[in-house]
Amino acid sequence: MATTNQAQVGGPTSPLLAPYKLGNFNLSHRVVLAPLTRQRSYRNVPQPHAILYYSQRTSNGGLLISEATGISDTAQGYPDTPGVWTKEQVEAWKPIVDAVHAKGGIFFCQIGHVGRVSNTRSQPNGQAPISSTDKPLSPQLPSSGIDIIEYTPPRRLRTDEIPQIVNDFRLASRNAMEAGFDGVEIHGAHGYLIDQFLKDEVNDRTDQYGGSMENRCRFALEVVEAVVNEIGGDKVGIRLSPFANYSESGDSGPEALGLYLANSLNKYGILYCHMVEPRMQTAAEKSDFPQSLVPMRKAFNGTFIAAGGYDKEDGNDAVAEGRADLIAYGRIFLANPDLPKRFELNAPLNKYNRETFYISDPVVGYIDYPFLEATT
Ligand SMILES: Cc1cc2nc3c(=O)[nH]c(=O)nc-3n(C[C@H](O)[C@H](O)[C@H](O)COP(=O)(O)O)c2cc1C
Repeated sequence: MATTNQAQVGGPTSPLLAPYKLGNFNLSHRVVLAPLTRQRSYRNVPQPHAILYYSQRTSNGGLLISEATGISDTAQGYPDTPGVWTKEQVEAWKPIVDAVHAKGGIFFCQIGHVGRVSNTRSQPNGQAPISSTDKPLSPQLPSSGIDIIEYTPPRRLRTDEIPQIVNDFRLASRNAMEAGFDGVEIHGAHGYLIDQFLKDEVNDRTDQYGGSMENRCRFALEVVEAVVNEIGGDKVGIRLSPFANYSESGDSGPEALGLYLANSLNKYGILYCHMVEPRMQTAAEKSDFPQSLVPMRKAFNGTFIAAGGYDKEDGNDAVAEGRADLIAYGRIFLANPDLPKRFELNAPLNKYNRETFYISDPVVGYIDYPFLEATT
């Protein structure tokens, strides 16, 4: 098997466990905690139980990405997801971020807006959710595991309202830095607001934010530019899923879209691009899919993170073959707080329990997955 040139003599031989320089951050390995919504932030405020949850998943020199965190009071679609638009939320994040830093972790906040994947109950004053479109979303089967019941038809944003949403992303990035995060990941994936602009199955606008691929990407790139100007490109990543079609967000040319974005992002000098594998096209299940992220990886100049359906072997291969610099692990990191150590020791993994992914219990399925010591 190939090894990376950054594996140290006498150090770990597995490509996933080789150190990596992520801009100004020195990572001790390539096993990243993927963003994972857990719906335990009551009233959209991060809770003290998240201190232990994230610190359990921290290793010295490991990169963690937070669960999707709302940028404004219109950004939420699921109960008890955290935000970063109020002072109370920023203060509540601080001890969580501090705990990750105390163990040597690097912590990015995933900032996002659900757009039309919402309903009036989640919106201020019971108003309609906002989107690129006014096309309603049909009730979804909870294939992702998130049991959202119904959606309210969205209100199409007027062209003159879009700068305000871009500004909300900017302010949220500033707030995340104020909370102590090392940077932000802009959530441009999985059928949420940014993706609702990117994808031609959703975006039916006739202004400069719709129509051509360039126009559909305009909102995403304006958000990137605003956030980069606010906190610096060395602290900014973005997550994209050009191949996914969650929440009716498919695109007729996903590869061209992904490539256009990867190339365009180079202008802003952002730290990383995090893409979800085509095999995660339909739901949180792996399927065979002929396309790959390699063209986007080659086009993008910064660090490339791949995610979706990875196990240890697969992750090692991807890093060894140069298909990604870092691999983000979702479900198996959720269930194995000491995942990098288990990879290092070739230890068996705890199984994840889908039933407890999104329950509001502050302990069960959250901080009670056993560590290796406890299972041996
Ligand atoms: C419980 C759960 C919550 C998730 N929440 C988010 C989220 O907040 N933001 C996001 O971009 N992706 C989210 N995802 C997707 C994961 O980050 C990841 O891409 C997906 O689980 C596939 O990777 P895996 O096969 O390693 O689990 C979530 C997935 C799960 C299972």
